[in-house]
Amino acid sequence: MIEELEQTAAGATARLADVEDLDGLAALDAEYLGKKSALTQAKKQLGELAPEDRKAAGQAVNEIRGRIEAAIAEARARLTSAARAEQLEAERLDLTETRDEIRRGSLHLVTQARDRLEDVFVGMGYTIAEGPEVESAWYNFEALNIPEWHPARGSFDTIFVNLGEPEQVMLRSHTSPVQIRTMENQEPPIYIVAPGRTFRTDTADATHLPAFNQIEGLVVDRGITLGDLAGTIDEFVRAFFGGEVKTRLRPSYFPFTEPSAEFDISRPDGSWLELGGCGMVHPNVLRNCGIDPDEWQGFAFGFGIDRLAVMRYQLDDIRELVNNDVRFLRQF
Ligand code: PHE
Repeated sequence: MIEELEQTAAGATARLADVEDLDGLAALDAEYLGKKSALTQAKKQLGELAPEDRKAAGQAVNEIRGRIEAAIAEARARLTSAARAEQLEAERLDLTETRDEIRRGSLHLVTQARDRLEDVFVGMGYTIAEGPEVESAWYNFEALNIPEWHPARGSFDTIFVNLGEPEQVMLRSHTSPVQIRTMENQEPPIYIVAPGRTFRTDTADATHLPAFNQIEGLVVDRGITLGDLAGTIDEFVRAFFGGEVKTRLRPSYFPFTEPSAEFDISRPDGSWLELGGCGMVHPNVLRNCGIDPDEWQGFAFGFGIDRLAVMRYQLDDIRELVNNDVRFLRQF
């Protein structure tokens, strides 16, 4: 009988070593240790043995049972850790799995153009100035030599703010008020650029936005001439676009500069794109800021940053800049 049990136990340990899941293990457990198992039957038969044989046989049966129990415990440990590992793997939250999908954001095109312009001018020794987006008539017009009755006032298509006296508070229609604010607060020599948002009653179309961005330049120093203005414009355009692009000035009119000009830059096809206005700071403007025009001269310019971005990135429509279509924005 012991001989037979030894064989059963050898078979049991071999099968337990190979069992692949917990259900299979439970079946083996029942088969080898359950009520109908050879071991349980053998234990029952122990009573029928002669007393002198009973002790040794009982020990042998218990020893074999212990061996099978140990093999079952070992198999259970192996299977539960495998099952746990499998579950862990299945439920694993792989926080790195979107690694290739994460796109880093980038600065908006207009911000990129503005940063680049600032870099170019800072490289030429200018500092950056700023002013408020809501202005008074004094800064937006009067100090700039545009009195109430002046016809040029209408050409700015101003958006007024419902504050104080009618038409005295407005969204600035250009960045030129920053000229005044700078000259009020700073002694010449002055070399500043002032980028910022500007507003007009324009309806948005392919070349206009009612809220757009300008950059203003102002230089006040001794012995400044129109040649310095032309040279500065040429230099920054060259630095911004790199080599290829040419500039030209065309006579024009602004109340705050005398003489005044529009400046154009050349397109690849040889045509000209109007970029902005410029001129020598009008003596009245200097005087309005307490600067003696006999001692100091200056030039100023102002142009649209959005238009520059349209040109630089060859956009078909300026409205792309504000549509916030990520498919567009991602390209830059
Ligand atoms: N402020 C003018 C405009 O918006 C541009 C300009 C700036 C002209 C400085 C001359 C000097 O149209």
